[in-house]
Amino acid sequence: GAAPSWAPSTVLVTGGAGFIGSHACVELLDHGYEVIVVDDYANSTPHVFARVERIAGRFVGAVYELDIRDRRALSAVFDRHPVDAVMHFAALKSVSGSVESPVEYYDTNVGGTTSLLRTMHEHGVHRLVFSSSCSVYGDAGAGPLDESTPAHPTNPYAASKRACEQILADVCCRRPEYTVLCLRYFNPAGAHPSGLLGEDPQGAPDNLMPHVAQVALGHSKRLQVFGGDYPTPDGTAVRDYIHVMDTVEAHRIALDHLADAPGMHVFNLGLGQGISVLDVVAAFSEASAKPIPYEVGPRRPGDVATLVADASAVSRAWGWRPTRTLADMCRDAWHFQRLNPHGYAGAERRPNPKP
Ligand code: NAD
Ligand code: WQD
Repeated sequence: GAAPSWAPSTVLVTGGAGFIGSHACVELLDHGYEVIVVDDYANSTPHVFARVERIAGRFVGAVYELDIRDRRALSAVFDRHPVDAVMHFAALKSVSGSVESPVEYYDTNVGGTTSLLRTMHEHGVHRLVFSSSCSVYGDAGAGPLDESTPAHPTNPYAASKRACEQILADVCCRRPEYTVLCLRYFNPAGAHPSGLLGEDPQGAPDNLMPHVAQVALGHSKRLQVFGGDYPTPDGTAVRDYIHVMDTVEAHRIALDHLADAPGMHVFNLGLGQGISVLDVVAAFSEASAKPIPYEVGPRRPGDVATLVADASAVSRAWGWRPTRTLADMCRDAWHFQRLNPHGYAGAERRPNPKP
């Protein structure tokens, strides 16, 4: 397309140490952006930045350990750096955690977002890419869901994301200088193809692919498949998995569209393909050449049968679509797990080889 009339050079990445944020840092550095990160390491470790920089062959401009709800600390970052645009990944993301601790989730996800918006406003920064989630749709039915599907969040995590979207829409309505792109990710999975970056949650993983990887490694005996009686082709729940590299590529391309039209724009990010739990098991087993023993058990409370994107809006708007397959996600997730059986911290504890 035509060169954008406005191009950011310095991007603030909140939650830049996390799974998606760390891959976004690589993508931005690879494309010449200056990257500033803030993260409180609630679900990540600072070890990740050595890997980000090793892959990119460049340094992250600055990394600040802070809680985005701390407006003084956040403001000091904006004072110090000429931030052009913000990618806002920082949030708590466990659905079960949000049922357990709703106030903590609203405080971090909604309070974190309002704190960021106030700070951006004070510093004249008006361009934001926001991490939203397919979970805002709730139990919306089996068909592919487009962005006009009414939001019916069914847990505090999803409700907190929906509340942020509403706040962002209200800000854009009141202030024409704002452009906000809300990206509703379906199920990001996979890892950087180098094997250096991947998903390294603190504590037991919630998500399917890290669990499957743990079984392939032999760290857990078998996968618990949550439900075999869904109204789906094989009875297991169907999701729309998207490679984390495609997810962050979409964020980088979003920067080129932050000057297209003011206001808030919402896009699904998914492959638009329904993939069942057993499809993931089969693909991972193939990618890893390991058996993945599993046991079909009861449904997980709060899960829905099917969540698949109509992902056509983003390709219409930007001429971009995700290209990486489920096989790519499994290959890359397995590569990362095999090289980092205990995650980043485990790797740091290994004695350094003699030069
Ligand atoms: P993640 O937990 O790996 O990353 C989130 C990062 O934010 C972590 O590094 C964490 O330490 C940081 N953080 C949390 N609270 C903070 C605070 N108060 N101040 C500063 N930093 C804070 O999660 P992820 O998978 O990389 O998700 C990134 C974003 O995408 C989140 O907003 C999440 O809700 C959203 N999302 C994720 C998925 C998914 O399946 N991974 C799907 C849809 C949406
Ligand atoms: C995928 C499928 C499980 C683990 C959540 C959020 C969503 C988004 C992505 C943040 C489901 C099944 C899982 C296991 C299993 N995140 N499963 N055994 O629940 O689709 O989506 O993460 O925004 O908002 O809701 O993802 O990876 O947890 O589960 O059978 O050990 O795998 O039941 O059908 P989910 P998931």
